[in-house]
Amino acid sequence: MRVFMAAMLVGLAPMALAVAQSSQPSLQEPSSQEPMSRGGNLPRLGEIMLGKQWRHIKLWFAGKGHNWDLAAYELAQIRASLIEAASLYSGIPVGDVAIMAGPIQSIDKAIQSKDGAAFVKAFNDLTVGCNACHRDMERGFIEIRVPGASPFTNQVFAPSAKR
Ligand code: HEC
Repeated sequence: MRVFMAAMLVGLAPMALAVAQSSQPSLQEPSSQEPMSRGGNLPRLGEIMLGKQWRHIKLWFAGKGHNWDLAAYELAQIRASLIEAASLYSGIPVGDVAIMAGPIQSIDKAIQSKDGAAFVKAFNDLTVGCNACHRDMERGFIEIRVPGASPFTNQVFAPSAKR
């Protein structure tokens, strides 16, 4: 059930269905810190978050570079990892997942309309949402900000037309 709620909140029901189907037996009472031991190799929440952190950086440089295809891809990854986190870890407050829906939709819109300024604003709002949940979950010391420089020296962020 949680997975559907999370998915509705971030507006991605079909993907949630896939997540639910793949992990259903494990969706009972995972704590916020440790995945259930049964059900195989569930990712630890910190690992899911590390993935989100990479994607947060990549999304930023894709959007800044107006590489809208890449930005859409990275946004979908962030969405999926949020659904994954909320569905596997029952300790995550639903309200903090819901907070992410607005910025995710706004980024989506900015990408669709190729609007760089709207992208920057929505990305800032997304980042505020990351930190709001960290604070609520006593992880306020994990403070996310808009990235300054890309650590990814092996990936091109400009769209191919600009190369
Ligand atoms: C709904 C709650 C929630 C949201 C939203 C959220 N996080 Fe987290 N995040 C957590 C929790 C809880 C932890 C601590 C996990 C643990 O203790 O194992 C965490 C940990 C992290 C970590 C630390 C991982 C490590 O091992 O160093 C990073 C980085 C991170 N989050 C990035 C992000 C980014 C970027 C976003 C936004 C795009 C985000 N988080 C949104 C709940 C959230």
